[in-house]
Amino acid sequence: MNCLSPSLLSADFARLAEQIALIDEAGAQYVHIDVMDGVFVPSISIGLPVIKAIRPLTERIFDVHLMITEPERYIDAFVEAGADLLTVHAEACTHLDRTIRKIKEKGILAGVAVNPATPVGVLEYILEEVDMVLVMSVNPGFGGQRLIPYTIGKIYDIKNLLEKRGLKTDIEIDGGVTLENVDQAMDAGANIIVAGSAVFAGDIKANVEGFLTRLKRREKA
Ligand code: DX5
Ligand code: ZN
Repeated sequence: MNCLSPSLLSADFARLAEQIALIDEAGAQYVHIDVMDGVFVPSISIGLPVIKAIRPLTERIFDVHLMITEPERYIDAFVEAGADLLTVHAEACTHLDRTIRKIKEKGILAGVAVNPATPVGVLEYILEEVDMVLVMSVNPGFGGQRLIPYTIGKIYDIKNLLEKRGLKTDIEIDGGVTLENVDQAMDAGANIIVAGSAVFAGDIKANVEGFLTRLKRREKA
């Protein structure tokens, strides 16, 4: 299924509850929550207390993207805070297999993320263990950047790898996705679409509906 995961990073943090209600009512299936530690990426964003505070506001899937070093230290805490899907960066884990296993043992979904320049080969052995692969289509750290075109080719490569193994693992694209390039991303094989600035700039409800129309059209095609 194709799903939209609006990234709260571009939301108005002073009106977070209202804006979450808008994306929920408009039908976005996921809520993408970017956690940044100022070490793995240059910025510091939001963390556990905010996730806990917004958890009661919606039943949508909390898609937590950890852009932090040694994410294994915080798995229990993010599960307790309300994550449904926890994604760690391959580049941030010395023991990626152990980290993914630990997430799965907690009974939630596990994702692995790769930065634009990270080769697809890093996924080869872990592919069967994860529920989702997150392909960064910008360098992580900030919202509102332009999609790096070669990352679309990378999604094709990952889709091929999955098909060869008979896997239907979700592929999420994250960074610079707009109504202008979302079809390209879906053509390549992405089925979970993160959009931050393209959702939260302007009319949030209309933006979500615009994306969902595209996603549904593709589902039928
Ligand atoms: C970037 C984050 C993204 C970002 C997406 O480091 O992981 O989730 O918020 O925002 P846009 O859609 O504006 O690129
Ligand atoms: Zn993200």
